[in-house]
Amino acid sequence: MPDLSGKAAIVTGCASGIGAATVRRLVADGAQVLGTDLNAEAGQALCDEVGAQFLQQDVADEARWEEVVSAAVETFGRLDILVNNAGTVSSRSIGEVDMAAWSRVIAVNLTGTMLGCRAAIDAMVANTGGASGAIINISSTTAITPLPTDVGYSASKAGVRALSKSVATWYAQQGHAIRCNTVIPGATDTGILDAAEQVTPGLKAAVAATSPMNRLADPAETAAAIAFLASDECPFMTGADMLIDGGALSIHPGF
Ligand SMILES: NC(=O)c1ccc[n+]([C@@H]2O[C@H](COP(=O)([O-])OP(=O)(O)OC[C@H]3O[C@@H](n4cnc5c(N)ncnc54)[C@H](O)[C@@H]3O)[C@@H](O)[C@H]2O)c1
Repeated sequence: MPDLSGKAAIVTGCASGIGAATVRRLVADGAQVLGTDLNAEAGQALCDEVGAQFLQQDVADEARWEEVVSAAVETFGRLDILVNNAGTVSSRSIGEVDMAAWSRVIAVNLTGTMLGCRAAIDAMVANTGGASGAIINISSTTAITPLPTDVGYSASKAGVRALSKSVATWYAQQGHAIRCNTVIPGATDTGILDAAEQVTPGLKAAVAATSPMNRLADPAETAAAIAFLASDECPFMTGADMLIDGGALSIHPGF
């Protein structure tokens, strides 16, 4: 298990799914964690259960990001890890999408991730012992093989990949030991898939079948990859994409 003792983390979208599994995993690996979510009741309950701090946050709210990072630094004295995990779907094809649905999914998934990366800069650069940190942004296999049923979600997740590489290379060129990597989950058994299933019946089984393992990921499997990227195990790893997709993108579509 990666050793995260002495590290302080922020995890967005902590109330369920991959975010909740990540809070559990980072705490188990020794980190102090501040979880945030729009859903205050479930987020608070999860954080209370595992001994993490909680703040309600809409990741698309620019001003709130400064408050969240300040709270982490005030509580923990530093910020080492940021997991930009909060995400939503719009479940609209190009033939159905309106500006409200498009703007919201881009605001949460893409702009929210950018705001988090930007808000973390001063805190990570000011860490005692010198600039250091690990940012993990959550994209999706739909960034590579987009969903015809959700143009906004797919585009936002493709944006997250490019954003992560831009952040990673900027920090490297500044000479800061602050890394930024992308986790690319495939179909994972969480609430977001349940929501998509409501709009597109059969979607869950269809996406499970895209993996040669013919199953959905357990969120804990994704959290394990996030914990590795958050640790000091591989300081040369930045700008990378880590696929957690059960081989879905590795198989020829004919087989
Ligand atoms: N489940 C999958 O199959 C899958 C696949 C690829 C990528 N992902 C990504 O993984 C991430 C986590 O999703 P999940 O699968 O755990 O889904 P989930 O619905 O279980 O969890 C998402 C969490 O984000 C929170 N959230 C939504 N909008 C928010 C906002 N504006 N501000 C703060 N919190 C907000 C929700 O309240 C929820 O707790 C998302 O970015 C999602 O796009 C999921």
